[in-house]
Amino acid sequence: MGSWSLMQNEKRVAVVTGATSGIGRWIALGLARAGFHVVLICRDAARGEVARNWIAQAVPLASTEIVVADLSSLSATTSAARQIAARHPRLALLINNAGVFRARRARTAEGREMVVAVNLLAPFVLMRELEPALKAGAPSRIVTIGSSTSDKARVDPANLELDRGWNLVRAYSSSKLAVMMVTFETARRLAGTGVVANVVHPGAVATSLVRSPGIIGLAWRLMAPWLRSEEQGADTPLHVALAEDLADQTGQYFKDRRAVAPNRRALDAGLVARVWEATERLVGG
Ligand SMILES: NC(=O)c1ccc[n+]([C@@H]2O[C@H](COP(=O)([O-])OP(=O)(O)OC[C@H]3O[C@@H](n4cnc5c(N)ncnc54)[C@H](OP(=O)(O)O)[C@@H]3O)[C@@H](O)[C@H]2O)c1
Repeated sequence: MGSWSLMQNEKRVAVVTGATSGIGRWIALGLARAGFHVVLICRDAARGEVARNWIAQAVPLASTEIVVADLSSLSATTSAARQIAARHPRLALLINNAGVFRARRARTAEGREMVVAVNLLAPFVLMRELEPALKAGAPSRIVTIGSSTSDKARVDPANLELDRGWNLVRAYSSSKLAVMMVTFETARRLAGTGVVANVVHPGAVATSLVRSPGIIGLAWRLMAPWLRSEEQGADTPLHVALAEDLADQTGQYFKDRRAVAPNRRALDAGLVARVWEATERLVGG
C-alpha cells in the first residue's frame, strides 16, 4: 500500500471514460505507458477490472484505478467526478472518450435522451466538476473525442434531445457537434489558466460498432477492410493529450494529428452560447 501510494503520488493523474473497450482502452494503455496514474471511469466494475489487467500485462508498472459510474446518469457522473476530485485534487488530463451510437431512441432513468446524456451531458458535467482539479494540476489538458459526423451537422439548442425529428444519424452527429461546442467554450473560459481543451476525430475505427447487430453493424462490417484498428484510432487522441508542441493549443479540432477547420457552426459565438445554456439547463443548472 505504502509503495503503491508513493508511486501514485509521483505520477501525474489522467481520467479516461469508456476505457473498457475500443479506442478508450488503447488511450488508457498509452497514458499508462507514458507514466500517468490512470483513472478509468467504467459503468461495469468487472469490465473495468478486465481492462486494468489488460493494461497491467502490457505495462507491468502501470498504476490504474477504477471509478464505477454509468455516464448516462447525471447523478452518477457528478458523484464519480466529486470522488475523483477528492482523491486527486490535481489532474493533468481528462479524456472524454465514452460515446454511444444507438439505433433506437431511448430515455435514461433520469428521463434524458440517451445519446445526448452520454455524448454531451456527461462530458459537460465532468469538465465542470473537474475544472478546479484541472486548474490545480495545470498545465493540464482536456481531450474530447468528437466525430467527423459533426462536420456537416446542425444542432438546435431548443431541441437538443431531438424530441422532434430523432433519427440515429442526427442524434449522434448533433450530439458530437454540441460536445465540440461546449469543449470549445470551456477552452475559451479557461484561457490563461493553463488548462487547454481540444476535440479529436479518431478516424473510422473498427470498434464494437462493427460487432453491433442489424444494419449499422452490417454497414461497418462491409467497410471493415478500410477501417483503422482500435490502436490506430487512439493515435490522434494520445498525440493531442501528450505532444509537447501542442501544450498551448486550445479550442482546436484535430484529425490525423493536425488541427483542421471544424463545422463553422462551432465557431458561431451566439449559437455556442445558446447550446451551452441549453446544456446547463439539461444538467440542472
Ligand atoms: N469507432 C469509430 O469509428 C468512431 C469514429 C468517430 C468517433 N468515435 C468516438 O470514439 C469514442 C469511443 O468509441 P469506440 O468506437 O471506441 O466505441 P466502443 O468500443 O463502443 O466504446 C465505447 C466505450 O464507452 C463506454 N460507454 C458507453 N456508454 C456508457 C455509459 N452509459 N457509461 C459508461 N461508459 C459508457 C463503453 O463501456 P462498455 O464497455 O460498458 O460498453 C465503452 O468503454 C466515442 O466517443 C465515439 O463516438 C468513434
